[in-house]
Amino acid sequence: MKKGLLQSVMMISLLGTASSAALAEEGIQGAIDFRESVMTTYKWYMDPMGAMVKGKIPFDAAFFKSRAEGLANASRLDVSEGFPKGSVGESEAKPEIWDNWDDFLSKYQNMQDEAVKLQQVAATGDEAAIKAQFGKTGETCGSCHKKYRSKK
Ligand code: HEC
Repeated sequence: MKKGLLQSVMMISLLGTASSAALAEEGIQGAIDFRESVMTTYKWYMDPMGAMVKGKIPFDAAFFKSRAEGLANASRLDVSEGFPKGSVGESEAKPEIWDNWDDFLSKYQNMQDEAVKLQQVAATGDEAAIKAQFGKTGETCGSCHKKYRSKK
């Protein structure tokens, strides 16, 4: 990763100013792709758990546990790398993110904490506790989206 970045910085200086804007833009798009992939990964794990909690599909403790594990692991990714300053581009990220960076990071931390708790609760197989903790985890996604993600 670091090497790739250094190489692109070198490329920019080699190619001169005309193409540097395009390359810088590609860098931002790379970051947007990264964060959106991470978010899509969360959705991948959250959706089946949500379906079980809502009773759309039968509750299956082992399957739920595997989804909660996946989410907790994915939440350890440092998504802040995907939010270089001002990288709104053609995304749903709101500029307010960078005016409230510490708050944004703490909202991410909350999500990580609740996802890890969900993993622990899911391992117990206690359906009622699992459903309650799933709700708390989902709220941390919503609380960040409400403030920092624009509606399509
Ligand atoms: C700290 C803030 C934050 C947290 C926590 C967060 N998100 Fe997001 N999410 C965002 C932002 C900002 C965007 C818009 C990113 C963009 O468009 O580039 C987004 C976008 C998304 C998208 C759309 C991705 C795309 O391809 O456009 C999905 C799906 C998503 N989030 C799911 C989740 C789920 C599920 C959780 C909880 C497990 C979660 N997010 C937690 C900030 C957050």
